[in-house]
Amino acid sequence: MSSNECALGLMSGTSADGVSIAAVSFKPFRVLACKTYPYPEKLQAEIISAAKLDLRGLSLLNFKLGKIFAAKTALFLREYKINPRNVEVIGSHGQTVCHYPGDNPPHTLQIGEPSFIAEATGIPVVSDFRPRDMAAGGEGAPLVPFLDEYLFGKGAPRLLQNIGGIGNIAAAGRGVKTFGFDTGPGNCLMDDAVHIKTNGKLAYDVDGKFAAGGKPDIEKAASWLKMPFFAKKPPKSLDRAEFGLEFISENIGGPALCRDFKNTMATLNYFTAASIALSVRRFIEPKLKAAELIVAGGGALNPVLMKNIAMLCAPVKVARISEYGIGELAKEPACFALLAHLAFNGQPNNCPAATGARGPRILGKITPALKTGRSK
Ligand SMILES: Nc1ncnc2c1ncn2[C@@H]1O[C@H](COP(=O)(O)OP(=O)(O)O)[C@@H](O)[C@H]1O
Ligand SMILES: [Mg+2]
Repeated sequence: MSSNECALGLMSGTSADGVSIAAVSFKPFRVLACKTYPYPEKLQAEIISAAKLDLRGLSLLNFKLGKIFAAKTALFLREYKINPRNVEVIGSHGQTVCHYPGDNPPHTLQIGEPSFIAEATGIPVVSDFRPRDMAAGGEGAPLVPFLDEYLFGKGAPRLLQNIGGIGNIAAAGRGVKTFGFDTGPGNCLMDDAVHIKTNGKLAYDVDGKFAAGGKPDIEKAASWLKMPFFAKKPPKSLDRAEFGLEFISENIGGPALCRDFKNTMATLNYFTAASIALSVRRFIEPKLKAAELIVAGGGALNPVLMKNIAMLCAPVKVARISEYGIGELAKEPACFALLAHLAFNGQPNNCPAATGARGPRILGKITPALKTGRSK
């Protein structure tokens, strides 16, 4: 990779809010540009309920998303005036529509056909990162701790929390064998509740305004923390469906949700923060003491959630990843740029201590570039 080259990373997370694209240069690692292209509301609903699709519908969604990823990547290159010739490789995580590491055999499915991205840009694409980790006995998730180690592995021990649809945490630093696991719900419960209340007009609790107007039911949140997932030892990962509409209808119910909406939002927000604090106390502090928890993902943009996390994790200091020069929504796409860059150059890119895989592996499958005249 020459000095003016970069790699792109694409992430479409469980929130299904849109596709986030980042351009990254390495040595030193730097996010050059990042943008999230939101999905239309109808597509977001289709993705979130993808489990209900029949085979033909799923196949259609795979191609539909691939075409959207391709169009947005081409747009990103134009918007940021990036010459495709200077892009070594694109890493596309795809959209997880199913992730069941507990089934026999464990399985996972990320969709968004990468051929369309290669076709639209003439740049090779690395995609489908998770299966190889699972074939090596891992959970296929979380993958971002690899970036956490890359960025923070040489400094003081730190905790890295991502709050997308689902929450996940990692620990990295000098003398720490990097590990990580899913902490529980991220924004998903709050997003679903807002969706129900506003009939789909709002996708999330913007700046935590609903939650700020209510009072959390701390006992209720504590009772939810008794769910078996929170007692399970890491490595562990979650399917978004485990904290979806079913959880809301079973635990809050339709009319109660609407009647008492601000209090419900305050409770879901508090519960989400408490599940993170519980993960720190139960599974991390017995192994290591870290002075700082650095939050990334859309949840870091919710001030009420950040306040709850800071209160419940004290004396651990809570910071945002932007304080380290990476935008809150840039970290995950930037991670897939790095993983693709490594896979493309034949280097391992998983974090066995986080996923439980038997050892280092090269994750991802390569869709070759369209154009001739490239070295690879
Ligand atoms: N200003 C904001 N206030 C509150 N929540 C926000 C804000 N911006 C983004 N979010 C939350 O972040 C989510 C998207 O986060 P993201 O990290 O992209 O998750 P994923 O990886 O699951 O797509 C949104 O669904 C929303 O819940
Ligand atoms: Mg997202």
